[in-house]
Formats: sequence, structure tokens, C-alpha cells
Amino acid sequence: MDTPVITTTDLRKVYRSRDREVTALDGVDLTVREGEVYGVVGRSGAGKSTLIRCVNLLERPTSGTVEVDGRDLTALAGRSDRAPAALRAARAGIGMVFQHFNLLSSRTVQDNVELPLEILGVPRRERARKAAELLDLVGLSDKARTYPAQLSGGQKQRVGIARALAGEPKVLLSDEATSALDPETTRSVLQLLRDLNRQLGLTVLLITHEMDVVKAVCDSAALMKGGRVVESGTVAELLATPGSELADELFPVGGQASGPDRTVVDLTFHGESATRPVISQLARTYNVDVSILGAAMETYDGRQIGRMRIELPGRFEDNVVPIGFLREQGLQVDVAEAGIADVGIAAPEPARTRAVAK
Ligand SMILES: Nc1ncnc2c1ncn2[C@@H]1O[C@H](COP(=O)(O)OP(=O)(O)OP(=O)(O)O)[C@@H](O)[C@H]1O
Ligand SMILES: [Mg+2]
Repeated sequence: MDTPVITTTDLRKVYRSRDREVTALDGVDLTVREGEVYGVVGRSGAGKSTLIRCVNLLERPTSGTVEVDGRDLTALAGRSDRAPAALRAARAGIGMVFQHFNLLSSRTVQDNVELPLEILGVPRRERARKAAELLDLVGLSDKARTYPAQLSGGQKQRVGIARALAGEPKVLLSDEATSALDPETTRSVLQLLRDLNRQLGLTVLLITHEMDVVKAVCDSAALMKGGRVVESGTVAELLATPGSELADELFPVGGQASGPDRTVVDLTFHGESATRPVISQLARTYNVDVSILGAAMETYDGRQIGRMRIELPGRFEDNVVPIGFLREQGLQVDVAEAGIADVGIAAPEPARTRAVAK
């Protein structure tokens, strides 16, 4: 699972029109490893769609390189505007799913799935066999003869996914594939992507603006802002990164200090520490009243990961020993608020100290 399948290196994309320039990608380095589901999140305009369109060279990067499955697509693209044969062949190994499905309304479901195979010159019988197999895979065998207009949004997206898989791609790119769908349909489409990822070993790079999508299916994630990747890593790595915005959004553990003489501490539990009764041990050993301000517990790949925000009576310096105890238990401990009068002075590890105000 460690082989990189998609690598972008210092990828830049500048859109130029007569009177202005927009830097949509400003030096993006991204590594997606084989067999993972990788989510890219960020606000509108952050450059997510530009990034995914540059990964399959639908959009030509201004500079930088894109490698997919060991091939440098930017080198294949050359300078001409018409994609040379080598690039077209490489693209066949990259499936793409779109927000608005992009199905042809005049074709049946089966013919939509067959379309990329027609373009690749696959004989009719082989196309039909492959389309039937793919429709079975996405749970739509009974809809082969219907037209897109007769399908629900979720069914249309399943057709879109089947079509994206027709060329037996190694990589599936998805740009907001579920954002036009209701929450329940979203869940079922995400589950399908997860199943395909597991069954076929498909690597999935998906763009979303919904944190729930990342939470539901992603092994790794990156946060984009203003054309740059500002955070990236596996979900577990992100959770272990002090001050990670993605971790905060994935596991929001809100809650404010109840008064001035209080210390607010964010705890992250991994592996074994997730199942030990650390908080009750803390309360018993040091005879402190621990208040839980917020908590979130999730299971990733069968391992529990949790975050908790607790409040201890007294200022930071009154709590040095209990905080040391928590660290000794193998927890990651971030002091979120070190007593109002002492912020930034008393805390011994300023890098880990951050204001709680939002
Ligand atoms: N074809 C284009 N010509 C000029 N500017 C563009 C073009 N496509 C995108 N941009 C600009 O590039 C920036 C990044 O756009 P992009 O579509 O990649 O954002 P996004 O993160 O996908 O946003 P959203 O969440 O709204 O889909 C934006 O400022 C956008 O206006
Ligand atoms: Mg977009």
C-alpha cells in the first residue's frame, strides 16, 4: 500500500485572461498511495477541481509534473493541444466521476457504460459483456435497458461509476460525486466507492467539501487553501498533529472553559490508550474533578481513535502533574487554554498551545 500511484510535484496552474491572472494551483505536492482512498477538501475556489483536472491532464498544468502509475503524464502531453495517443492510452487507466454525472440522455444505461469501450475500439460482444459485469458490480443489472432520465440521482451516479470503471482503471478520480445527492444516497454511493476500493484494489482520489465524506471513506486527506495543500497525511497522522485543522474538523470537540481559573486540555487517544479508563484513573489518582467538555470516538480500520476536550480546575501550573500523567499514558495532550491570565507564558511548550477562541 506504500507505492505512490499519483504524485504531483510543484504543480502550478495559472489561468490567464486578457485583464487578469488567477493562480489556481500554487505549487501542489501530493502523493496518493496504491489502494488508498484520498480525500481533498477545501473551500470553494481553493483549487480542488483544478487539481483533479490536472491529474488526468484534462487541464494542462502551467508547470510541475503529474505522475500516475509510474508515468509522467505531463511529459506525454507534450505541447500540442490535441492529446497524443500515448496520453490517451494513459488516461484510459484513470476513471473519472463527475458531480452532475455527465450521462448521455439519448443512450440507455448500458450504452452509457459501453461508451468508453466503444472509443477504445472494443468489439460489441465484449463491450456488452463488460457493461453487464460493471452494472452488476454497482447493483444496477435490472436497469441496463432504461434511460438516464428514468433513474434517481444515486442510480445515475452508479452508472457514472460503472462507466468510469469500463477501462479497468487503476485510479478513480471523483469531483464532488455525491454533492448533488441526499445524505442517505450519499452514504450508499460512498459505500460503493469503498467496496470498489477494497474489492478491486482501486486507488480513489476524491474531492469534496464535506468533512463527513472524508470521515466515512478516506484513509488520507489533504486540506487546500488558496491553491496550496496546507495539511496532508493519513487520518491517523492528522489526528496526531497538534493544531491540525483537519483533525479539528473531522473530530470537533467544542466546548469552552467554564471560568477563568480553568485549564482546558485536548486529548487524542490512539490504539491501546483508547480503551483504557484514563480519565477515571486521572480523577482518582489526583483527586481532581475532570469535566468533559466534548468528545468524539471513531473506528478507523478497526482501530479506535478518539478526541476529548476536558477541563481541569485551576491554572496550567496547578495541573502540570496531571497533564504529565496523561502524557505518560500515551495520549497526545494539547493544552488549549492555559488559564486566562497566563496564556503563552506559563505553558512550557508554546508550539502545542493554542487559543480556544474560534
Ligand atoms: N477555466 C478557468 N478560467 C479562469 N479561472 C478559473 C478557471 N477554472 C477555475 N478558475 C479559478 O481558479 C480558482 C480555483 O478554482 P477551482 O474550480 O479549482 O476551485 P474548487 O476548489 O474546485 O471550488 P468549488 O468547491 O467551488 O468547486 C478559482 O479562483 C476559480 O475562479
Ligand atoms: Mg470544484
